Amino acid sequence: MANRKYIVGNWKMNGLRSELADISAIAAASASHPGVDAGICPPVTLIAEAAKSNPGFGIGAQDCHFNAKGAHTGCVSAAMIKEAGAGFSILGHSERRADQHETDAEIKAKAEAVHAAGLGAIICVGETEEERDAGKAIAIVCGQLSGSFPDGADASWLTIAYEPVWAIGTGRVPEASDVEEMHAAIRHKLAELMGQGSDAIRILYGGSMNGSNAAELLAVPNVDGGLVGGASLTAEKFGPIIEAAAKA
Ligand code: PGA
Repeated sequence: MANRKYIVGNWKMNGLRSELADISAIAAASASHPGVDAGICPPVTLIAEAAKSNPGFGIGAQDCHFNAKGAHTGCVSAAMIKEAGAGFSILGHSERRADQHETDAEIKAKAEAVHAAGLGAIICVGETEEERDAGKAIAIVCGQLSGSFPDGADASWLTIAYEPVWAIGTGRVPEASDVEEMHAAIRHKLAELMGQGSDAIRILYGGSMNGSNAAELLAVPNVDGGLVGGASLTAEKFGPIIEAAAKA
């Protein structure tokens, strides 16, 4: 049986209070498609207000620390994002793997920390262009998945996002056949890592998804939704992706 589609917007380092109305407009657009799960991950400064103004709509964080508290200047814990109103967190985005040198082991620990706090996790994996050109894409992605796979994984709280690094923010999207091959490889790896119940773990595609290509991407076997950056900033752009998911 196909999994319910899940469309998540990652606002990255975009969004001031003046943009909160866009989240409300997105939540309203999402409410007309009850068959699709949708959410937005605004910057941490907007989580509390976004969650308060949009009850019932998924608000998530973009990261959190793996420790519960302590001397980690500038970081936030799972309990902090939960208290602010987040229901889940993106973890291990390639921008953080690159900019903050996050390792698979840290991402695993972060996932276990958000789960312990009662939150959901979206773990991101994806190869660079050089890795794909060298024929290593599947090995790299499956390696990231094994290394960052949390103990106690279960579809009720864990989601995987496949995001080829070279497709993020570039307008370039892999061929549907390449997406199909990668999502099948991830599905296979999930079965190996957790056995029973792995089919229910949702695997999102991310990287230049928009209202024009969403229907094709969401029709690919084992693509259970999307993680969307640039096209998630307004209801005008994000609404059509949710709509495509409702029809998929
Ligand atoms: P993009 O970003 O949709 O702007 O390519 C996706 C992501 O990084 O999650």
